[in-house]
Amino acid sequence: MSDSRPVKRAEEMVNWNIVFPNQANPSGNMFGGDVLAIMDTTAAMAAKRFSETQVSTVTVEAVHFAKPIMVGDNIKTTAKVVLVGNTSMMVKTDVYRDIGGNKLMKCVSAFLNFVAFDYQRMPTQVPILELLEEDETAHKMALTIKESAKRRQQELNEILA
Ligand SMILES: CC(C)(COP(=O)(O)OP(=O)(O)OC[C@H]1O[C@@H](n2cnc3c(N)ncnc32)[C@H](O)[C@@H]1OP(=O)(O)O)[C@@H](O)C(=O)NCCC(=O)NCCS
Repeated sequence: MSDSRPVKRAEEMVNWNIVFPNQANPSGNMFGGDVLAIMDTTAAMAAKRFSETQVSTVTVEAVHFAKPIMVGDNIKTTAKVVLVGNTSMMVKTDVYRDIGGNKLMKCVSAFLNFVAFDYQRMPTQVPILELLEEDETAHKMALTIKESAKRRQQELNEILA
């Protein structure tokens, strides 16, 4: 059966924030929940821009807090749709701290799943992703994450049955 959905390129969303003292955890670096809120918002904007619909986060996968972010840091967050299903999109999201000298250090990364909604809040189809060469690695990672999340869910369902 042929797929009549439009084919579309994804646009990278980028935003910058400065880390305030009220975003610190008791150790003095940025609280992970606040980092995740910025990632979720930026990723939602990328998914919304791609699908031209309302979107909701359905899962957050492969979160890795690799390096701490400090109070006072300028942080850059990037987000791009790298895999689509029928009504869902996976967005790769990364957070970097500005370490001066025009250099960035990657601190946090994650893949967030979004579902596109119509105006009755029913899942609705998203465009087909035109995959660019520069996104092939992220796309492969997203496929692996999606497959392993599916396996994990099946195993959890067996435990719960
Ligand atoms: C998102 C939501 C509508 C999905 O409900 P559902 O009954 O599973 O809907 P569907 O079965 O129609 O699935 C819709 C899409 O979500 C995907 N999906 C559902 N559960 C998923 C999961 N755990 N992981 C990844 N994708 C998932 C499905 O694969 C499907 O994608 P596809 O069309 O590309 O194949 C529902 O879980 C919801 O409303 N959640 C709350 C979302 C929210 O409020 N988020 C804000 C943060 S709290």
